[in-house]
Amino acid sequence: MAIKTLTIDGQLVSAREEDTILVAAREAGVNIPALCYVDGLTPVGACRLCLVEQQGTNRLQAACATKVQEGMEIVTNSPRLHEYRKMILELLFAERNHICAVCVANNHCELQDMAVRHGMDHVRFEYLYPQLSVDVSHEQFGIDHNRCILCTRCVRACHEIEGAHTWDVSGRGVRARVITDMNQPWGDSDTCTSCGKCVQACPTGAIFRQGSTVAEMERDRSMLQFLVNAREKKQWNV
Ligand code: FES
Repeated sequence: MAIKTLTIDGQLVSAREEDTILVAAREAGVNIPALCYVDGLTPVGACRLCLVEQQGTNRLQAACATKVQEGMEIVTNSPRLHEYRKMILELLFAERNHICAVCVANNHCELQDMAVRHGMDHVRFEYLYPQLSVDVSHEQFGIDHNRCILCTRCVRACHEIEGAHTWDVSGRGVRARVITDMNQPWGDSDTCTSCGKCVQACPTGAIFRQGSTVAEMERDRSMLQFLVNAREKKQWNV
C-alpha cells in the first residue's frame, strides 16, 4: 500500500494512494461538505458540494471522486467555495418542493443541515414548483419525489449492498426521477426485498418509513458502512 503526502488547508496529511481527497480530509479531521457521498457506497460526484480548490489549477475538484496525489495542495474552505456551495444548495431547493415544516425528516435532514451550515436564508433562483407524485404503494415505505435531490444514494445502496437493483434513474436534467424497476409503482416491484437500505441511505425525507410523522425520521447511516465492512472482512462466514 503506497502512501501519498499532501496538504489539506495547510495541514500535512498522509493518505493511502487509493483514498480520495474527501476520505483523507475526514481522517485528518477536516470536514468537507458532501451530500451524494456516503461511507460504504461508490462515490459518483453528483451533487458537487464537496468541490475543493487545488493549487496549480483553476478547476475545482470533487473531493469525493478525486484520488489523492503526491504533493497536492488542497483548500477546502474559501469564500469562493462557500459561495459555490451556497448556490448549489439554493438550486437544489429551487428544483423541487422542499417544505421542511411538514417533512418527516425535519431536523434530521442532511440538506437542511447543509443549508443552515452555509447560512442559506433565502433562495435567489426562481422556484420550479414541479408537479411531483408521492408513491406509497409499498407496504412499509414511501417515496416523495418532491424531496428527492437525485443524489442516487438509494440506487447505489440497493445495487451495491443489497444486490437487488430495484432503484434506478430515469430521464435527464430537471426531468430526472428515481424509479423502481421499469418505472412501476414501488409496491408492484418484483425485485424489492423490503430491506430498507434505501431508507437509511436517503439524505432527506424523500424515502421514508410509512407511519412516520413530521420530524420523526432519524436514520442510521453507519449501517451501510457496517454492512460493507462486515462483508469485506467475511465476518459472517463461519
Ligand atoms: Fe462529492 Fe457530492 S459529495 S459530488
